[in-house]
Amino acid sequence: MKKILFHKTHTTQEELDAVADAIRSGWLTMGPKVMEFEESFKNYVGSQEAVMVNSATAALHLALKAIGLKEEDEVIIPTNTFVATAEVVTYFNATPVLCDIEYETHNIDVEKIESLITEKTKAIIPVHFGGQPCDMEEMYTIAKKYNLKVIEDAAHALPATYKGALVGNLESDVTCFSFYATKTLSTGEGGMATTNNDDYAKSINTNRLHGISKDVWDRYSGGGWEYDIVDNGNKYNSTDMNAALGLSQLKKLEWMRDKRATIAQKYDNAFKDKIEKLVIKNDRETSYHLYVIKVSNRDKLYVKLKEKGIGTSVHFIPMHNHTYYKNKYNYKAEDYPVANDVFKKSLSLPIYPDLNDEDIEYIIEHVLLYAK
Ligand SMILES: Cc1ncc(COP(=O)(O)O)c(C=O)c1O
Repeated sequence: MKKILFHKTHTTQEELDAVADAIRSGWLTMGPKVMEFEESFKNYVGSQEAVMVNSATAALHLALKAIGLKEEDEVIIPTNTFVATAEVVTYFNATPVLCDIEYETHNIDVEKIESLITEKTKAIIPVHFGGQPCDMEEMYTIAKKYNLKVIEDAAHALPATYKGALVGNLESDVTCFSFYATKTLSTGEGGMATTNNDDYAKSINTNRLHGISKDVWDRYSGGGWEYDIVDNGNKYNSTDMNAALGLSQLKKLEWMRDKRATIAQKYDNAFKDKIEKLVIKNDRETSYHLYVIKVSNRDKLYVKLKEKGIGTSVHFIPMHNHTYYKNKYNYKAEDYPVANDVFKKSLSLPIYPDLNDEDIEYIIEHVLLYAK
């Protein structure tokens, strides 16, 4: 029987050589490769600063620290997200306030944000679901009106554009990317925070390594042994091996995106007028991180495809359904009608560069056979 994984990272001899070089250098933690990756990344997205950390979760945490989030503050996030977006808010004993989503895109419904704003609201974290940017212009208008910070959860959105500009260089305070195993560019585990604000960059840079005043490479490469602890930081740095992977993946990022776009086009053509899918708004480009269909028999379809060797997934179980969050914050399911509806129907199909035409046809054939 065929076996099609839900995701497989595209790697070649280039990645193997890059990591081997990093190991041979004799410096296995954060050092020159991390700096090189940060430089290449910021040049690519066009931001002033880019700071590499060991996950998007870490980037989001340090971004909230940089903007000065405090106990009892509130942060508005979509309910349709991975737990990381909410979890980082709880690190500060602040409250994640959940917002319902748009049916067409599964992104935060900007029209519902204002009704959630209180005197305690400090920030909004939009999540670019599946790689499609949220309605950022409307978001910035609201943020300006109420003096809120905007931290983008761009875990899915590399590369993605909004009104012609790459995510990572919009008007947000900080943008956070993920290089987790299933993401569009992977370093195994990893993340990047981009910003055009020097103070935020400095804060994230210092706090990714215990709040130490200078980085470890500087201390061991002739910069002197002395250092000071200037903040209460975290151990969130990445390594030169991860950065070496990132550098080789960044070179093929657009090629990988084009491959996913071609697969999405094939799914679109095959499912036209038969199966519902996400709507991509015409002033933005998605990274095609996810290809989500909506069907009335989602659970059955998941099992049928699994029996046929096709791996699929569900993005996401809404935050208000999770026991810990439901109990702690008293979220009420009836406040999120669109997210509830979308959650029941959604299934994410495989979409990655290593899928071949035969795999794609096999997936299409079985989806059309079993979807209702
Ligand atoms: C929307 C979203 N935000 C944040 C994260 C966290 O990313 P990381 O695993 O790099 O911490 C993920 C990971 O799946 C995600 O999907």
